[in-house]
Amino acid sequence: MPELGVNIDHVATVRQARRTIEPDPVWAAALAELGGADCITVHLREDRRHIQDRDVYLLKETVTVKLNLEMGASDEIIRIAREVVPAQATLVPEKRQELTTEGGLDVAGNVSRVRSAVAALQEKGIVVSLFIDPDERQVAAAKETGAEAVEIHTGSYAEASPAQSTQRLAEIAAACKAAGEVRLVVHAGHGLTYRNVVPVAAIPGFKEFNIGHSIISRAVFVGLSQAVAEMKRLISI
Ligand code: PXP
Repeated sequence: MPELGVNIDHVATVRQARRTIEPDPVWAAALAELGGADCITVHLREDRRHIQDRDVYLLKETVTVKLNLEMGASDEIIRIAREVVPAQATLVPEKRQELTTEGGLDVAGNVSRVRSAVAALQEKGIVVSLFIDPDERQVAAAKETGAEAVEIHTGSYAEASPAQSTQRLAEIAAACKAAGEVRLVVHAGHGLTYRNVVPVAAIPGFKEFNIGHSIISRAVFVGLSQAVAEMKRLISI
């Protein structure tokens, strides 16, 4: 059964809107676990727009499932990751002006840089996943870096018109298959919602789905544990 990684960044977004102490992502992680989360994901961005350093250090102490740190490959964030030692790190590209992570990491164009970031994290026992577009060239490059896993970017499918979504889904399935064939563990995420997740979950081979905005949005109305449990049922087909 695939695992559900719950991205709780947007709990911190609400807190940072007032620069106060609530809602606390540490509480959110505990409630997500109660709802059945297999993994808690947070993105410590360079601009600290939502998750703060304090959150990452506390989550390392309190999360009892897998902690997945999404991160850009900057020296500062790599230093923090090596100090915190989350179970998993997912390397993502990061631009200051973006609303959220926009594209996958260009691993093919930066193999040696990515390889050294992967090695710096693995040296501390952190499992490394690379967030890439559904592109077989990027899958092959990811394998070259020594990373254990890739997360296939599902945004192109999530944003596609109904006429294009079948094609986008086929690209995601092809990338998933290619990654499996070179023995990479395969995750998926970005833009997945209660409405669009089922066709992606039906693709064989995905081990983990990382979902944030849709779960936190639903949690505002039904509570986080219930929102997580509902998503977990949808991916467990
Ligand atoms: N996976 C990665 C690598 C991401 O950068 C994000 C967004 O932080 C997500 C998954 C979750 O995306 P969403 O909030 O759209 O579910």
